Amino acid sequence: MLPVHQSMTDADLLEAYAPPDAADPFVRFNFVSTLDGAATHGGTSGELGNEADQRIFALLRRFADVILVGAGTVRAEGYGGELLDGPAQDWRRARGLTAHPAVAVVSGSLGLEPDGPFLAECPVRPLILTGPEAPEARRRRLEDAADVVVLEPGTTAAAIVGALSACGHRVIHSEGGPHLLGTFVAGDAVDSLCLTLDPRLAGGPARRIAVGETEPDLRRMALHHLLTEDDALFLEYRRPAPDRRPR
Ligand SMILES: NC(=O)c1ccc[n+]([C@@H]2O[C@H](COP(=O)([O-])OP(=O)(O)OC[C@H]3O[C@@H](n4cnc5c(N)ncnc54)[C@H](OP(=O)(O)O)[C@@H]3O)[C@@H](O)[C@H]2O)c1
Repeated sequence: MLPVHQSMTDADLLEAYAPPDAADPFVRFNFVSTLDGAATHGGTSGELGNEADQRIFALLRRFADVILVGAGTVRAEGYGGELLDGPAQDWRRARGLTAHPAVAVVSGSLGLEPDGPFLAECPVRPLILTGPEAPEARRRRLEDAADVVVLEPGTTAAAIVGALSACGHRVIHSEGGPHLLGTFVAGDAVDSLCLTLDPRLAGGPARRIAVGETEPDLRRMALHHLLTEDDALFLEYRRPAPDRRPR
């Protein structure tokens, strides 16, 4: 098992996490969890993980055509401002990518503030994906700050991926949260789960990294790699090749 800081350069990590070079959409989720499955402590994930986790978290954004988050994560974590630093933007430009990936948020209620940091300070014009039940007045209020796309009822993973693909986004990089991952698990639409296992026990009321109303079939994933640092594990699981499914 490779220790991240001691033996891996950024180039090594980028090679390990590189998405497949294919035409199909590639949907990746990146999460941190405690040993006992808590996705939060004190209401956010900010206390979880370590320096190596932060390093991987930042490097993973480089691959994104679009960074996708649920509205709950925006409200809880206070996303805002630059999401990639200068070297990350240079890395992308050198590969013919835009300096900054697109940014999309999924919200049914449209309970987002047009002048809040997420929308007002976003370095690109954000995309808001919502359902037909979204209140019309809120939709109109947000349209100055973002492009609002109304999806089919249910806001399924397939509809979300379809809308992002229609905008030309292939590598969909999601940073959560649990309801959004639950939607994608239900739709069998997760191609990669990057999971940091924080070596602590949380107990308490925290939810886990995926939640949903219904219980879908178990989704078999395949270990892509396993790294470590300071007792934390950095796992990437990917959708198995068709001949290894299901089990
Ligand atoms: N451990 C980690 O790595 C990690 C990562 C991310 C977040 N978190 C934590 O997770 C917590 C937030 O959890 P959460 O489950 O509320 O996060 P979430 O999935 O980001 O947000 C849920 C909200 O997103 C919208 N949404 C998601 N899927 C939808 C769908 N299929 N259709 C319509 N709307 C959809 C809805 O917004 P509306 O309510 O606006 O309709 C829903 O209430 C926070 O405490 C955050 O800190 C942890």
